[in-house]
Amino acid sequence: MSDKPWGGRFKESTSLAVEAYTESISFDSALYAQDIAGSKAHARMLGERGVLSREEAARLIDGLERVKREIEEGVFPWKQELEDVHMNIETRLTELVGEVGKKLHTGRSRNDQVCLDFRLFVSDNLREWMKLTRQLIRVFVRRAEENREVLLPGCTHMQPAQPVSLAHHLLAYAWMLKRDVERMADCERRVRVSPLGAAALAGTTYDLDPAMVAEELGMYGTFDNSMDAVADRDFAEEALFCGSVCMGHLSRFCEELIWWANPMFGYVTFSDRHSTGSSIMPQKKNPDVAEIMRGKTGRVYGNLFNLMTIMKGIPLTYNRDLQEDKLPFIDTDRTVRHSLSLMADMLDGLTFHPGRMRRALASGFLNATELADYLVGKGLPFREAHHVSGRAVACAEEKGVGLEDLSLEELRAFSPLIEKDVFAALEYDRAVARRNVPGGTGPRSVAGQLKRLGEWLGGAEQA
Ligand code: ARG
Repeated sequence: MSDKPWGGRFKESTSLAVEAYTESISFDSALYAQDIAGSKAHARMLGERGVLSREEAARLIDGLERVKREIEEGVFPWKQELEDVHMNIETRLTELVGEVGKKLHTGRSRNDQVCLDFRLFVSDNLREWMKLTRQLIRVFVRRAEENREVLLPGCTHMQPAQPVSLAHHLLAYAWMLKRDVERMADCERRVRVSPLGAAALAGTTYDLDPAMVAEELGMYGTFDNSMDAVADRDFAEEALFCGSVCMGHLSRFCEELIWWANPMFGYVTFSDRHSTGSSIMPQKKNPDVAEIMRGKTGRVYGNLFNLMTIMKGIPLTYNRDLQEDKLPFIDTDRTVRHSLSLMADMLDGLTFHPGRMRRALASGFLNATELADYLVGKGLPFREAHHVSGRAVACAEEKGVGLEDLSLEELRAFSPLIEKDVFAALEYDRAVARRNVPGGTGPRSVAGQLKRLGEWLGGAEQA
């Protein structure tokens, strides 16, 4: 005879190898708080609807709270042979409250139960990601405020392109991260929808009130189709995608910081607390945190594809494959949280070197576009102006100097339209100052960006 909660029809007990292979308690115990909250809401609803007496419901709720305390005090007897978090908790509940514990599962299946727990878990964690992302945006905004006057080469193709302010460069990340928060918030509205009442797959014959459960749990609504409710995990795929995009953004900044910390650039120094040394080369100060973060991004993308691949081609409705949904999410959750908070701390501790950035402006002809625009101002069509400026660049390159180092006579050889005022046009600060189009790197535009981000951050704490 099997001693499992589902063991009625079994003569032989499960082999230990099967038990070890099919268990999920080693990872789904992370969902205990959501499981208990869901069960309390279910019990209260059963009491309200008269499926159980109010007194029975109250005893269940009280018992569930005792179970929760045991877990939080570290004295809960987790058992692998009870498979998962749901059966561990229900079994312990029955030990604590007696026979009535066996009534908790009325009108419910583990199929809708696990989906409810996981939806709550994903939603709770998404909210945490949003909070941490907002905190990181705050640091980007603060560091941008401090560095409005600092200029550095903006790149395309990793080649010097046009001068930009450091504030503008940093705010590019702030806007990416703001979209991440919005994406998470949008996703969370689809995640936090209750599947409870779908039961095994077809709904239930009990007179349940799924909306009451959803409301108690602060959910946005209830399922529309019981088969869909227990079968799909698109909500978790979406959340993993949100985490992936966010990590992708962080990894790009990591990559830039790694270059910037190289003495060839010398734009930044990491604080000692975010650097590591080499066991052989005494001079080394390595940006390991940024490198590992870039590497972990690969794992987070892998987790998205892990779940996408599990979901591919499985027939309706619940299949045990779905138990594998939690591992990638738990791993991504830990990685996203650590990465967001470490990045905030690392950016906070970063020292920028404006002198090095300014010196870098001098190589790479970052003002070549300015010369072309100057000529356009004098009436030359842009295509021709581009050509003239290109010839001046070739000449300066040959001499090993910047455009601004050529004499007026040398410049006039390329176009008689060039006059003394060209030198002002070639100044890097002016190049930046002139770009006040909305969203540009000009100081007025950057001030506007800072203002809008500040308002957004100051606004309602939810995105
Ligand atoms: N541990 C299972 C999971 O995570 C719970 C649901 C089990 N349902 C079932 N019919 N065996 O998916």
